[in-house]
Amino acid sequence: MAGWDPSQYLKFAGPRARPALDLLAQVGLEAPESVFDLGCGAGNITRIMAGRWPGSAVTGVDGSADMLAKAQSGDDAITWVHADLGHWSPPAPADVLYSNAALHWLDDHETLFPRLVAGLGQGGVLAVQMPRNHGEASHTCMVEAARAGPWHDRLAPVLRPSPVAPPEVYHDILAPVASALDLWETVYTHALDGDNPVVEWTKGSALKPLLDVLEGEDREGFLADYTGRIAAAYPKRADGTTLFPFRRLFMVAVR
Ligand SMILES: C[S@@+](CC[C@H](N)C(=O)[O-])C[C@H]1O[C@@H](n2cnc3c(N)ncnc32)[C@H](O)[C@@H]1O
Repeated sequence: MAGWDPSQYLKFAGPRARPALDLLAQVGLEAPESVFDLGCGAGNITRIMAGRWPGSAVTGVDGSADMLAKAQSGDDAITWVHADLGHWSPPAPADVLYSNAALHWLDDHETLFPRLVAGLGQGGVLAVQMPRNHGEASHTCMVEAARAGPWHDRLAPVLRPSPVAPPEVYHDILAPVASALDLWETVYTHALDGDNPVVEWTKGSALKPLLDVLEGEDREGFLADYTGRIAAAYPKRADGTTLFPFRRLFMVAVR
């Protein structure tokens, strides 16, 4: 699994939290007994879930020891589990399986999503948000920069150009195993401060696995190439902010 840097990821904790909360708002259960946050990262959303359902057993699951170390630094009653979601199942049928901005790191969604629904009790809810920005410059520039220099052989194996399929694919995967299904997309227009904020944003997520396999001049060259493309694609506005449109796919499936 790719390494994660909680402090880089949390630089944009505010705008990254917005879709997490929009997803959580669509989980209609009043008092679920067991709640799991899959790919919980630094645990900031897990804690919000524990606050919403104070009587529930809340568990955060993540494959990154660095992210979990940050999550565990809070003083709370949440259980933290270090596991690869590619092999994980809940210990007993769950009421809520929630995942914000994590499942796009896993392959084979045709198998993964029905397996997660099978881990729910009757009436349980699978709630998932995944970025679907891979056709936008933030991500296409990554692929272009990866192919534009002597680093391309090392980057080719870690490039994931479109890990998230269109909504209808998830409809076809989930409708046969769900009693109710809601799918929607939102494009957020984040107004970011600072210099090269889109690069700072992707450094905490999709760009990181690429940077991690490079070092020295190649790392600098690739990052400079990507930064130049991004600066042209996302110019600063007159007020000094940079607008970063970001498409995200949401789904809420009830078993
Ligand atoms: C972008 S972060 C999202 C963190 C959190 N859900 C949030 O909304 O702030 C993605 C998280 O998914 C985790 N992750 C990615 N692939 C995983 C896997 N196969 N198993 C477990 N966790 C995984 C990463 O370690 C990371 O913490």
